[in-house]
Amino acid sequence: MYGHSVPHITWLSWLHCRPPNTPLFTHSKSPMAPKKILLLGATGPSGIEVIKYAIAHDVEVLVYARNPDKIPEALRSDIHVTILPGGELSDTAALRDAVAQKPDAVVSLLGPPLREILSWMNPFSSATKQPVFVNAYRVVVDAMTEFGVKRILAMGTISIPDEKDKLSIGRNILVWLVRLFMYNGWKNIVSVGKFFDGLEQEDRIQWTVFRLGAVLDGGFQNVTDGYVADGKTALSVRRVELAQWLVEQAVKEDPEWVGEKPVVSSAKKQKI
Ligand SMILES: NC(=O)c1ccc[n+]([C@@H]2O[C@H](COP(=O)([O-])OP(=O)(O)OC[C@H]3O[C@@H](n4cnc5c(N)ncnc54)[C@H](OP(=O)(O)O)[C@@H]3O)[C@@H](O)[C@H]2O)c1
Repeated sequence: MYGHSVPHITWLSWLHCRPPNTPLFTHSKSPMAPKKILLLGATGPSGIEVIKYAIAHDVEVLVYARNPDKIPEALRSDIHVTILPGGELSDTAALRDAVAQKPDAVVSLLGPPLREILSWMNPFSSATKQPVFVNAYRVVVDAMTEFGVKRILAMGTISIPDEKDKLSIGRNILVWLVRLFMYNGWKNIVSVGKFFDGLEQEDRIQWTVFRLGAVLDGGFQNVTDGYVADGKTALSVRRVELAQWLVEQAVKEDPEWVGEKPVVSSAKKQKI
């Protein structure tokens, strides 16, 4: 866990000093084999930041996306990136085949996209009433069991409660606004939290639901993880910060936050 915020300068200094072409993350079986992640939700702006960060750190990215052309050509054609066939969440055979590639981890940024906001705001929309993400996670988790893939990091929001959270008026207001104006989105995301909570606590699947507040553009400052109102976390995260956190967590030899739902956010400035 990031017990404290991680200053970006550490990474930059390390990158600067390391020998050329040294992968940041290596496989325990072969010291030079790069890690591989299966990325869902790769085509949103955060997904694209994940791809960039992964490429820069010699991590392979398998992309399962319904609109892969949204990823800039320079990234799509990079040697680290593979666009898998299929891409619809309802295409269970293709989704299973994606997991059959045996990534080291599945990273999911699936969530209601902003460009579909009207549909997600409409409580009568038959499409968004469906538990689309949970249905996909069921297929993914079954396939992970089948193919021996253990690690998954799945997007959640601070609408998902956690017993370790403390009271936050700001969070309550945000969640109630989302619930009021985007009921189907709220319900879908809350059901993601319940789905993973409901998985048997055996060592079969090492899941983490990372919870987000507002997701913003902007340069990297600091990223941290924890719980709502713990004095460390904030109610927003920048996409570049999230990307770094996700790739680092996905490739850790000893995974952190297993079976937990941490908030991932920009780090609050500490009072001196
Ligand atoms: N923006 C915020 O303030 C905010 C706040 C809390 C949480 N989030 C969540 O944070 C994540 C990153 O947000 P973002 O703004 O960077 O990107 P985004 O555009 O919201 O990314 C959503 C991703 O999920 C995919 N997706 C959604 N429904 C899908 C479906 N039915 N089938 C296949 N793919 C589907 C989208 O694919 P397409 O590109 O094909 O649509 C896209 O790749 C998202 O999960 C978002 O919901 C955002």
